[in-house]
Amino acid sequence: MVHHEGDSDRMNIAIDGPAGAGKSTVARRVAEQLGYVYIDTGSMYRAVTLIAQRAGVSVEQLAKLADLVKSLEIELEPGERGQSVFVNGENVTALIRSREVTLQVSYFAANETVREVLGIMQRRLAERKGVVMDGRDIGSHVLPHAELKIFLTASVKERALRRYREIVDSQTITLEQLETEIAERDRLDEQREISPLVCASDAVVLDSTSMTIDEVIHAIVKLSRTKMAEAK
Ligand code: DC
Repeated sequence: MVHHEGDSDRMNIAIDGPAGAGKSTVARRVAEQLGYVYIDTGSMYRAVTLIAQRAGVSVEQLAKLADLVKSLEIELEPGERGQSVFVNGENVTALIRSREVTLQVSYFAANETVREVLGIMQRRLAERKGVVMDGRDIGSHVLPHAELKIFLTASVKERALRRYREIVDSQTITLEQLETEIAERDRLDEQREISPLVCASDAVVLDSTSMTIDEVIHAIVKLSRTKMAEAK
């Protein structure tokens, strides 16, 4: 194994869980507090979905989709207001959050080649340690040796409500619709054959239904400090 400078005093943190549990906010702020790099792996699946939709490539077109994903250079750039995502040099940060992408992404995320290619990129990003990576299969599959694994969850009702409050123009969608969509996305993510959303056996489960964001962040930072002290 190659040891890079700083390996010994940094760790990798995996944060997995269903859509809307607060993973991205929590992961970003934990990274800030520890001086780590935040990596939102969902944004990579979203980027692939956006480019496939644009190119008119469907999930059924396996060979075309494989070529497409292999041709993409995805870059994640940390910034003040979260992470920016670039695909082959184009800033797609806002575009990957559209409803069209959100409704389709679980299907693209179930494709074997897509997962394989993105998994390799993700492991490479974590090689030097000091990352907080959020997703669905980070602790169970991408970084099985992450020093700290968190499974962050919340009830479907609470997750829909949080999403509803985020949407400025909630006229276009009802809370009930959001609940149905979130439950459907959970189902697709949990039931796919390759690396489904599962809680790793050695993950710490945090149910954020009745916790504030700050409480969740505090709990994770505390756990990371304990792990770090144990490792010394
Ligand atoms: O976290 P998010 O909503 O941006 O994720 C978008 C989709 O990507 C979601 O349906 C699950 C999928 N995903 C995945 O399968 N594996 C990951 N590591 C991250 C996201």
